[in-house]
Order: sequence, then C-alpha cells, then structure tokens
Amino acid sequence: MTTKELRYGLIGAGMMGREHIRNLGLIPGSRVTAISDPTPEQAALSAAEVEAHLGHTPRRFSDHRDLLASGLVDCVVIASPNDTHVGVLRDIFATAPELGVLVEKPVATSEADCAALEGLTRTHRAPIWVAMEYRYMPPVAELRRAVAAGEIGAMTMFAIREHRFPFLEKVGDWNRFNARTGGTLVEKCCHFFDLMRLVTGSEAVRVYASGAASVNHLDERYDGRRPDIIDNAFVVVDFANGMRASLDLCMFAEGAWFQEEIAATGDRARIEALIPGPARFWPGGQERESEIVFSPRDPKGPVRRAVAVDHAVLRAGDHHGSTYFQHLGFRAAMLEGGPVDVTLADGLAAVRIGLAAETSVRTGEAVRLAGASG
Ligand SMILES: NC(=O)c1ccc[n+]([C@@H]2O[C@H](COP(=O)([O-])OP(=O)(O)OC[C@H]3O[C@@H](n4cnc5c(N)ncnc54)[C@H](O)[C@@H]3O)[C@@H](O)[C@H]2O)c1
Repeated sequence: MTTKELRYGLIGAGMMGREHIRNLGLIPGSRVTAISDPTPEQAALSAAEVEAHLGHTPRRFSDHRDLLASGLVDCVVIASPNDTHVGVLRDIFATAPELGVLVEKPVATSEADCAALEGLTRTHRAPIWVAMEYRYMPPVAELRRAVAAGEIGAMTMFAIREHRFPFLEKVGDWNRFNARTGGTLVEKCCHFFDLMRLVTGSEAVRVYASGAASVNHLDERYDGRRPDIIDNAFVVVDFANGMRASLDLCMFAEGAWFQEEIAATGDRARIEALIPGPARFWPGGQERESEIVFSPRDPKGPVRRAVAVDHAVLRAGDHHGSTYFQHLGFRAAMLEGGPVDVTLADGLAAVRIGLAAETSVRTGEAVRLAGASG
C-alpha cells in the first residue's frame, strides 16, 4: 500500500513551527512544501529543519498570502504569534476555502476576535483544527480513558497543577504583553481549560481567579515598557453539570520533578497523571517518565505505574509527545475524513474561559460566562 502524501505550509516558523516540522518528520507521507515567516532568520532555521527531518527543501515566503496563493500546499499549520492568528485565518477563509487548517492555540486573544471568527467559517470546505494537544499526552489520554470508563466512580473534582519554567524569549518579544497574547491565562492556560471541558463533558458557567506578576520579567523593559503578564494564579471553574475544576499555575517552579500534576477525583477513587517538563531543560537532558497513580478509597493502596512514550516522539518536541499524536489525528481528518477532535468552537470556548479568568484577576470578582443560565 502506498502512503498518501500531504503537503503542509507552515505559517510562522519559530520555535513551535519547528516542533511541528520535527513531528511531521516522524509521520510518513508528510511534506512541508512551503514556509512563510517575515523574519528571514527564522524561515532559514525552519527550512534547515525541514531538510534535516523530511529530506527536502521548502519554498520560502515572507508573507503568508503569497504562500496561500502558491498552490503548493494542501493544508497549513499556523504557528505565528497569538495576535496574528485571526488575521491569517481571515485571509484563509477569504481566499483558500479548500485548505485544511491546524491553528495553534489560542485561536484568538479577545472576545471581539472570538465573535468575528464564529461568523467566518461557514464556507470553509476543509478541516479546521485548533492545536490544543495536551489531551494527547499519553498519561493524560490514560486519565481520560479511566474517567470515561467509570474507574473512579462519578467524577466531581478535576484539579490541574502546572508548575514550570518562565515564559521563554520569543521572536519580537510578543509573549511579554497581554495585548499580544491575550494574557497568561489565555496564552498557555487555554490548553487546561480545554482539558477541563473535555474531561467534565460540560461547559464552564463561572470562573474565579486570583493571580499576579510576582517573580518573572520584573526587570525587563521593552521600549521602556515593563511586561504585564502574570506568572502565578489559582483559577476555579464551575461547570454546568455541577463538576468543578481548578488550575494552580506557577511559572517559577521549574525545580519540580513533575511539571503537570492532573487529578480527577470521583466517589470511588482518584486518578492522577504526572508529567515531567521538557528534557532539554532538565540537568543532563535526560527524558523522565510520566506516571499514573490510581488511588481507590477501598481497599486503600495507591497503584503507581510509569507510562511508556517512544523516545523519538518525546525528542521531537517539548510537550511529552502530544504534538505527534495530534498530527496523526489531523492527517486522518485531512485524508480519511476522520473527526476533527478540537474544533474552532472548542478553541473559542477555551479562550473564553481564559479571558474570563484574566478579567477575574483584574477585578477580584467571579465572572459568569455568557450563555450560562441561572
Ligand atoms: N501548542 C503548544 O503547546 C504551543 C507551544 C508553544 C507555542 N505555541 C503557540 O505557537 C505560536 C508560536 O509560538 P512560538 O513559541 O513558535 O513563537 P516564536 O516567537 O518562536 O515564533 C513565532 C514566529 O512567527 C513569526 N511571525 C510573526 N508574525 C508573523 C505573521 N504575521 N505571519 C507569519 N509568521 C509570523 C515570527 O517571525 C516567528 O518566527 C503561538 O501562538 C504560541 O502560543 C503553542
């Protein structure tokens, strides 16, 4: 059987763009035929990554509209800064309705952009998938399976702790300001709000958050401006079905063995997924294993086990293999009519929880989400 070829265009060829390239290099039939980035050095670095991992040379563009018009690609991966996603999507919907789209999270950074996107996709004829891939990390996938199978009984609480390294330096320092990222609770935490929606099987109705910029970036200045992004927060989310979820975020805690500790608790047991951060930031650069801990109430006695993940897949990115598994799903959606796991509606719902959490941090008040009844 011959492997079907799928031609990708990469829009935004920075750090995450190169993670996409390395993962596509692990999936037979993938070709990255075009790259668009206004920063020539980044385009060159990413073209070299394509050559190293896929064995061919992509065409380079400095403007994504030229890539869209090139006829060189079947689908695009959008990995440009957060505040550029909506503009790129507008151009795709207007000029290339047949192109598949994998757009990095967060799909938008403001309520106005969320509302605008909702109306724009009706005529699009190919899959639109939001890159919200934490759900695919093998230990998280196992937690999801166990919850869905009823192994913890009726789930009531879902708690996520992420204690990690500070935001990295980005091209043009776009990640230092709320105006470009949507705020920390949108920028990186939409992943977790997506996971909360998925595991609870419900919609958020109320959000309360407390957070601050306490440690990181305090001495940095960009054109005289100090970064305004927060680096630690607690967020509580109430869901329509009565479940509750929490996020404990700290971005100056990279000494912790596990970066994410995710716990689902039901009336019979608790299950935890424990996930280490990227190997490249750990002394010696060694991969560490993720774990699942299953703790029944009766009989007591937690059962702990490691979760094996292919080291080639781990090495291809910073997200415990999730980008690879996401790409397998996106490829199936493109070539075999497989499901779109993370729709635009899912991406927007996660952004809206993040925006509500940012508002709650600023006002000190709980925020009811639009559409919530009662
Ligand atoms: N899914 C995840 O886990 C994950 C992880 C990291 C980053 N991201 C997302 O990926 C995106 C890129 O992040 P990054 O870490 O690669 O940032 P980066 O700064 O390393 O790269 C961004 C690149 O986009 C280019 N760019 C700027 N404006 C552009 C435009 N209009 N069109 C095309 N390219 C443009 C920049 O020159 C740069 O090369 C962000 O939306 C970020 O939130 C997702």
